[in-house]
Formats: sequence, structure tokens, C-alpha cells
Amino acid sequence: MEQIKYFLLQIFVVLAISFLVSAQDQSGFISIDCGISGNSSYKDSVTNIKYISDVNFTETGISKSISSDFNTTTLPQQFWYVRSFPEGERNCYTIKLAQGKGFKYLIRASFMYGSYDGQGTAPVFDLYMGVNKWGTVVMGNESNIIIKEVVHVLPTSSICICLVNTGFGSPFISALELRLLKNASYVTDFDLLALHRRLDVGSTINRTVRYNDDISDRIWVPYNFLNYKIMNTSSTVDSGGSNSYNLPGIVMSTAITTYNASDPLEFHWVPEDPSARYHIFLHFADLEKLQANQLREFNIYQNGNYFHGPFSPDYLQSTTLSSTSPMSGENIAFSLLKTNASNLPPILNALEIYLVLDTLQSRTDEQDITALMNIKSFYGVRKNWQGDPCQPKSFLWDGLICSYDDQIPNRITTLNLSSSGLVGEITTYVSELTTLQYLDLSNNNLSGPVPDSLSKLQSLKVLDLRDNPLLGSIPSELVERSKNGSLSIRVGAGGNTDLCASSSCPKKKKSYVIMIVAIVSSFLVLLAATSVLIILWRKRARKQPVIRLGTLEEKKQQLSYSEIRRITNNFERQIGEGGFAKVFLGNLDDSQVAVKVLKSSVQGYKEFEAEVKLLLRIHHRNLTSLVGYCCQKTNLVLIYEYINNGNLKEHLSGSKGSVLSWEERMQVAVNSAQGWMQF
Ligand SMILES: *[C@@H]1O[C@H](CO)[C@@H](O)[C@H](O)[C@H]1NC(C)=O
Ligand SMILES: *[C@@H]1O[C@H](CO)[C@@H](O)[C@H](O)[C@H]1NC(C)=O
Ligand SMILES: *[C@@H]1O[C@H](CO)[C@@H](O)[C@H](O)[C@H]1NC(C)=O
Ligand SMILES: *[C@@H]1O[C@H](CO)[C@@H](O)[C@H](O)[C@H]1NC(C)=O
Ligand SMILES: *[C@@H]1O[C@H](CO)[C@@H](O)[C@H](O)[C@H]1NC(C)=O
Ligand SMILES: *[C@@H]1O[C@H](CO)[C@@H](O)[C@H](O)[C@H]1NC(C)=O
Ligand SMILES: *[C@@H]1O[C@H](CO)[C@@H](O)[C@H](O)[C@H]1NC(C)=O
Ligand SMILES: *[C@@H]1O[C@H](CO)[C@@H](O)[C@H](O)[C@H]1NC(C)=O
Ligand SMILES: *[C@@H]1O[C@H](CO)[C@@H](O)[C@H](O)[C@H]1NC(C)=O
Ligand SMILES: *[C@@H]1O[C@H](CO)[C@@H](O)[C@H](O)[C@H]1NC(C)=O
Ligand SMILES: *[C@@H]1O[C@H](CO)[C@@H](O)[C@H](O)[C@H]1NC(C)=O
Ligand SMILES: *[C@@H]1O[C@H](CO)[C@@H](O)[C@H](O)[C@H]1NC(C)=O
Repeated sequence: MEQIKYFLLQIFVVLAISFLVSAQDQSGFISIDCGISGNSSYKDSVTNIKYISDVNFTETGISKSISSDFNTTTLPQQFWYVRSFPEGERNCYTIKLAQGKGFKYLIRASFMYGSYDGQGTAPVFDLYMGVNKWGTVVMGNESNIIIKEVVHVLPTSSICICLVNTGFGSPFISALELRLLKNASYVTDFDLLALHRRLDVGSTINRTVRYNDDISDRIWVPYNFLNYKIMNTSSTVDSGGSNSYNLPGIVMSTAITTYNASDPLEFHWVPEDPSARYHIFLHFADLEKLQANQLREFNIYQNGNYFHGPFSPDYLQSTTLSSTSPMSGENIAFSLLKTNASNLPPILNALEIYLVLDTLQSRTDEQDITALMNIKSFYGVRKNWQGDPCQPKSFLWDGLICSYDDQIPNRITTLNLSSSGLVGEITTYVSELTTLQYLDLSNNNLSGPVPDSLSKLQSLKVLDLRDNPLLGSIPSELVERSKNGSLSIRVGAGGNTDLCASSSCPKKKKSYVIMIVAIVSSFLVLLAATSVLIILWRKRARKQPVIRLGTLEEKKQQLSYSEIRRITNNFERQIGEGGFAKVFLGNLDDSQVAVKVLKSSVQGYKEFEAEVKLLLRIHHRNLTSLVGYCCQKTNLVLIYEYINNGNLKEHLSGSKGSVLSWEERMQVAVNSAQGWMQF
């Protein structure tokens, strides 16, 4: 009985622990498998990390799978597919992060060529983190796996990772991984550190360690120095909570030490570039419980100079010592040497070396970037608009000019979207580019009013709106500025003759869209309605060249719906039906009229009103004239003069008995066109 209880308790503990483990799961992770199909995701069978497709993070590139020759059984799934970028010089991934600006991330890009293009020649290309060069990816051979990793304090809430074609083959990428780090880890004066080495010193397991041994998913490579003794423990390091580095217990529970306590523990590396600057992070935890007469205490020297100490690692509790300023040289050598008081040798559990990446180029103002991204998605701009807008200068976005000052973020001074096929209104996002001096939106299909918010552009010198079907008035503040010469406003030409550059504009703002709808729908409605009249005119024209519509013309009027009911005798006789409307015969002021009742939902009130105004204005002998209209809520009615002679179709087809001659048919076409020209 006791045994069963104990067994159940064990199960409970195991469940509780596994729940805790999964609760801390991948919360600060973004894991992208580049090139897999858009709607797919999977859990890696080894790491259990969930990978998603890259479609939401890049707009360009093509998906490719590696050659099966390089698909070994141990190859991680992230390398099965790649995204290749055969087009364009610079292609970017943009990743928005919930925990963005000011947060610290480990960002890892992985590459394996695997002859995905069947060429057998691995490319060489550059990698950028935002505006800063991250490194050059040199693939070497088909099966070589290249991993580039940085520790990066994000300058903005989203990051851009760009692949740049340098003329040695199309760039491609296999995977992108982001891991949120604690703010208090890897603290240096630099925002961008590239991983040089991350070593699990004294490893006894002969394999790399990553998630979920390492909850930050760092990849620790086992490394054993010759001539040093391995120390290990079965106890757990950092069991009572971890330090800010979240070091994996399995890495910290092994270490190296010297056989002779008075010997130094030494290691060194030879940088390719002696001017390269490195930061080092040394991770320690004592793995032996010391007796009262024992002391492990040592000093650390870098190239013979004092670096840190005296230092005593805590038992099963990790401590990280790091460089306060970057180091460089032809050979960077570290030496750990016990103090005179100590009777135990120095120890080292793990170490990381990072290369400081230059971040000299200033980037673009974040507000400007946000505004441009919004403009891009608003109009669906198809240009080279990827990565940072202003940097590097060789990849300046088309249509932009930036101001460059090393001390402050770059600002946008010119936005030239002339002839860019923009459709829709002028978006107020433009007004958020507050340092804009030149704004050229000419020769697009921009409609609607000029937004008042453009007045926010205090530095604006040129505003070019020519050749757009814009309507309404220019904001008065801009007009004021153009009067004293501080701003040049270019309007008119092409489509936007209706745009008035002064406050003398009529109050009523008509919309171009409404006009279009009105014209098109009027045309369709009239084409059907007038066909009847045209035939009549054709027949009468010989005797009576000009039709006088006489008294009816003065009686165009607005009627109530009950009057409509009355004149049609409660819609007694339907004489026609079209896509938009039903037509009833009516009697108004002793004349017969055609009462067209528009089906609801076909047109909105505004469109209807526009059509009525248009029809009331237009007079042509080849068009039936509008007698009156009714619009009450959803009841939209047009009243036309009634012409009782059948419709055009009947006459053209001859179903009415009289067949039209070719000459008459020609005349019908010409007259139709003349009526249409009135618009
Ligand atoms: C992904 O979409 C394709 C078609 O768009 C579909 O055939 C396929 O079944 C989808 N796959 C998944 C995993 O939903
Ligand atoms: C891409 O974004 C859409 C919309 O936000 C989302 O529904 C979809 O799941 C995302 N796809 C992937 C692979 O993350
Ligand atoms: C790689 O091999 C695995 C089986 O080991 C298979 O499921 C997968 O489809 C292969 N991938 C490619 C791209 O050939
Ligand atoms: C991270 O720490 C720095 C100081 O070390 C601080 O300025 C910054 O605001 C912190 N960032 C976050 C996201 O907490
Ligand atoms: C590919 O290159 C890597 C690193 O240079 C090397 O370790 C590996 O043996 C090479 N593989 C082949 C098949 O040549
Ligand atoms: C570690 O693994 C490699 C290859 O898998 C093997 O050659 C080597 O002998 C192993 N080392 C130890 C100490 O087991
Ligand atoms: C240390 O590692 C060795 C080799 O893996 C193992 O045999 C030994 O039991 C380990 N010692 C402790 C204290 O865990
Ligand atoms: C340890 O090294 C010191 C100095 O190098 C030497 O004097 C001493 O004999 C060595 N001890 C042993 C046990 O080898
Ligand atoms: C340690 O001992 C050596 C010689 O045994 C001596 O030269 C050195 O000054 C001592 N260091 C300290 C800090 O006492
Ligand atoms: C915008 O670009 C067009 C050519 O694409 C050019 O004619 C025009 O002058 C430019 N506008 C400005 C303000 O630079
Ligand atoms: C405006 O759009 C129409 C069709 O939607 C197109 O024919 C015309 O070329 C466009 N005008 C401009 C200036 O892009
Ligand atoms: C023109 O007028 C605007 C506002 O009316 C004013 O802000 C601006 O300084 C004036 N510029 C010049 C050159 O007079």
C-alpha cells in the first residue's frame, strides 16, 4: 500500500515537473524554417522546437528543396528546404517582435546549400542585420552547415535580416531563429555581438547541447583541452534558480582543472584580423564541496595582464565573469592561476567568445520607417522597398532621399512616388514623414480630397499632385504657405482640374468615385431607356428635326413615395425590368411617364443623388429626359418621359414587324454616341 502511494506521488511529481517544463516552453522564441510551404509548421523531432514557414516574413524569393544526395538521416529538418533569392541585389526578412525595442535577442541564421539548384556550386554572399554588416556566408561545399549567430539589443521593435548578392551566386537561407535573452546577460557597450566560440568545457557527453537543456537554445559545442583534468558532478548546478545567463546545468556540471594545483589553466586564440575586437564570458561553478582547510581561489590574466580576481567560484552556483572592454591582438591568451593562499587548482566550466560588430552606420528614424511601411502596404508599393530605407546608401529605397547625419537617425526628405500606379486616397501616413521637403505624388490614380494632415509637414517645399483625379480644396494652411512662396503646390493638368488651390472652392465636396459610378450607371440605365426614344426620333426626325420636350421640362420635380404610388396607380402596370430597376407606367400631369423604381442595394443614396443631378442637367435630343425623381430612404425612383414605341432590341431584331435598314441602324449608333458625348 505504501509502495503504491509512493508510486502515485512519483507520477504526480513527474507530471508537475513536465508541466513546469512545458510552461516555460519557447515563450521568447521565433523559429522559422525558410522555404517550407506557406501553411505548414512542425515540431522538430530532436529539439521539439516548433518551426513555422517564412512566408509572413519575406515578400520575395523562391522555395527549393535540397538534393536528396545531401539529405542524411541525421540532418535536422530545417535544412531540407531553403528560400533562394535569384532576383534583386538585396532581399530581406522583416520580423516584428512583441518584445522589441531595447530587448536583447540571440539571433541565429543557418545555411546548408545541399545543391538545391542542382548546380553543385555553393554561393558566397553577405548577411546584414538591419543596416549593419553581420558577415559573409562562405558555404564551402554542399554539405557544410554554416551557422551565424548574434546577440543583439534591438534598436527598433522589428528587425530586418537581409541577404545581399555580391556576385558569387544567389543568396539563400535555411532557417532563422530568435531567442529572447535576459536583459542583464551579455552586458557590454555594444549592441551587436557575433558569436565566435561557445564551448562546453570538459564535456563528458560528446554532443552539442541546446534546447531544452538550454532554455535559451544556445548551441554549446563540447570541447576538451588536452592536458587538463575533467571534473564532473552528478549534482545539479543552479538548482535554486539560475543566474541571468540561464546556463544549462548539463554544461555547468562539467569543467576542466589542472593536474598540478600550481599550474596555470591556459587557453588562447589567434584572430584572423588583429584589429578585431572580442568580448569574453567565462562561466564558473565549483563542482567539489570543499573541506574547511581547502580553498580554491585564482586570478585571471589576459596576455600577462591582470584581468580579474582573486575569484572563488561558488559550489554548484554559477558565476559569469566578462571583459569590461573589448580585446584585440594577434594572439589573445588567457591564464587562470591560483593565488598563494589557495591549495586547489583553478577551474573553468564554459566559455563564450564574441566578436564586436561595427554599428557605425546610423539607421533611419523609427517613425519614418513605420510611416513608410504603412505607405507601402496601403498602396501595395512594388519597388525595392526592403530593409532599412536609407542604409546602406547603395540600397536606398527607390523614390527616397534621406538626410544623413552620424549623430542622429537618418530622416526622409524626399518621397517621390510619381508614376507609381498609386490608387485610392492620399493616405495620412504620408503626413507622418514630418521632415519631408519634397512630396511628389504626380501621375497616379489618387482620388478623393487632399487631407488636412499634410499641413503637418512643416518643412515641405514642393507638393506635386498633378495628374491625379483628386477633388476638393487644398488645405488652407498649405495655400497660405504657397502664397508667401515657402511652398510650391503643383496641381492641375491631366485628371485633377477639379482640384482648386484656393479657399474659394465650392463648399460641397464631390467625390470622383461617385462621379464615375454615376456616369457609368447612368450610361447603362440610359442606354436601355433611350433606345426606345432613339427609334422614335429616327422615325420622327425626318419631319421634325428638333424635339421640343415643352412643358415637361420645367416640371422636373421631386416627388414623395406616396405620390409615386399614386401616379403609378400602386405600381399597377410594369412595362419593363432591368438589372437595376423595374419600370412602371405612370401618369403625371396628364402625360404618360416611365417610372423606374431602382432595386434597393444596387446603388447608394449618394450615387443616386449624383445621377439625378447629372440627368437633370443634361439635355440632348437623343436622350429621354428626366421628369422627376423620388428618394425617400431606400425608395429611389426616377421618372422619365414615356415613349411608347417598343425598345431598340425589338427594332433591331425585327420582332416588332418593321425591320430597320442598315442606314437606319447606323444612324441609331451615331445618335447613341452623340447622346453619350453629352456626358
Ligand atoms: C497547404 O495548402 C495546400 C493548398 O493551398 C493544401 O493542399 C495542403 O493540404 C495544405 N497543407 C496543410 C498542412 O494544411
Ligand atoms: C501568417 O499570418 C497569417 C495572418 O496573420 C496567419 O493566419 C498565418 O498563420 C501566418 N502563417 C504562418 C506560417 O505563421
Ligand atoms: C529527407 O529525408 C527524410 C527521411 O529521412 C524525408 O522524410 C524528407 O522528405 C527528405 N527531405 C528532402 C527535402 O528530400
Ligand atoms: C535593459 O537594461 C538596460 C540597462 O542595462 C536598460 O537601459 C534597458 O531599458 C533595459 N531594457 C529592457 C527592455 O528592460
Ligand atoms: C565540407 O566542408 C566541411 C568544412 O569545411 C568539412 O568538414 C567537410 O568534410 C566537407 N565535406 C565534404 C563532403 O567535402
Ligand atoms: C565523439 O564522437 C566522435 C564522432 O561521433 C568520435 O569520433 C569520438 O571518438 C567521440 N569521442 C568520445 C570521447 O567519445
Ligand atoms: C563523470 O563522468 C564520467 C564519464 O562520463 C562518469 O563515469 C562519472 O560517473 C561522472 N562522475 C560524476 C560524479 O558524475
Ligand atoms: C607542481 O608544479 C610545481 C611547479 O611547476 C612543481 O614544483 C611541483 O613539483 C609539481 N607537483 C607535482 C605533484 O607534480
Ligand atoms: C606568491 O608567492 C610568490 C612566490 O612564492 C611571490 O613571488 C608572490 O609575490 C606571492 N604573491 C602574493 C600576492 O603574495
Ligand atoms: C520624381 O521622379 C520623376 C521621375 O521618376 C522626376 O521626373 C521628378 O522630377 C521627381 N520629383 C522630385 C520632386 O524629385
Ligand atoms: C488609372 O487607372 C486606370 C484603370 O484603373 C488606368 O487605365 C490608368 O492608366 C491609370 N492612370 C494612371 C495615371 O496610372
Ligand atoms: C509663410 O507663411 C507660413 C504660415 O503662414 C509661415 O510659417 C512661414 O514662415 C512663411 N514663410 C515665409 C518665407 O515667409
